[in-house]
Amino acid sequence: MTAPNPASDKAFDETLEGRLGDEAATAALAAAVASALSPGTSIHLSGDLGAGKTRFARALLAALGHGGRVKSPTFTLVEPYNLPRFDLYHFDFYRFSSEDEWREAGLDEYFQGLAVTLVEWPEMGGAGLPAPDLRVRLDPDPDDDGARRVRLQARGPRGLACLNAVRDAACFDSG
Ligand SMILES: Nc1ncnc2c1ncn2[C@@H]1O[C@H](COP(=O)(O)OP(=O)(O)OP(=O)(O)O)[C@@H](O)[C@H]1O
Ligand SMILES: [Mg+2]
Repeated sequence: MTAPNPASDKAFDETLEGRLGDEAATAALAAAVASALSPGTSIHLSGDLGAGKTRFARALLAALGHGGRVKSPTFTLVEPYNLPRFDLYHFDFYRFSSEDEWREAGLDEYFQGLAVTLVEWPEMGGAGLPAPDLRVRLDPDPDDDGARRVRLQARGPRGLACLNAVRDAACFDSG
């Protein structure tokens, strides 16, 4: 589905694009982002159903030391994680049918503190959702079921720290 993005492309300072050849590459990307996360960082995960947003979230949480299960928040809307360095909240806004529903559900307070927030389907939160520090967009690779195209967009020092870590980790295929 296509929906307007809460933050336009112009709002971002830097963009990085590449190809993730397999799930391990997606996991390596998530681990690189995890290594540069600081309290209060907000990440939006975009892409169609099955693009790999939850897969990315699972690898990010594993890299942050979470040893347990990572449930998709599709039905619960939010799954909380108490991690050594910060709390992390993983959201899925897919089931919201109006732009204010996330606020009406009381989820806005999660975005005001020092927790890291990870949002799948941020488009469903509408324009009122705070712009993220990092936007990760995953799209299928038309030639390969197990591969993804990825676009990362960073805004401000927290987002740029993540982008630089990804660049240093060199987890993209060329092409
Ligand atoms: N390179 C890849 N990166 C991530 N996932 C991949 C890749 N290749 C194949 N997959 C598969 O794609 C699927 C991604 O599912 P996932 O639940 O992460 O999607 P999602 O974007 O969270 O979808 P939804 O919008 O329904 O929440 C998984 O079955 C995963 O095994
Ligand atoms: Mg998902």
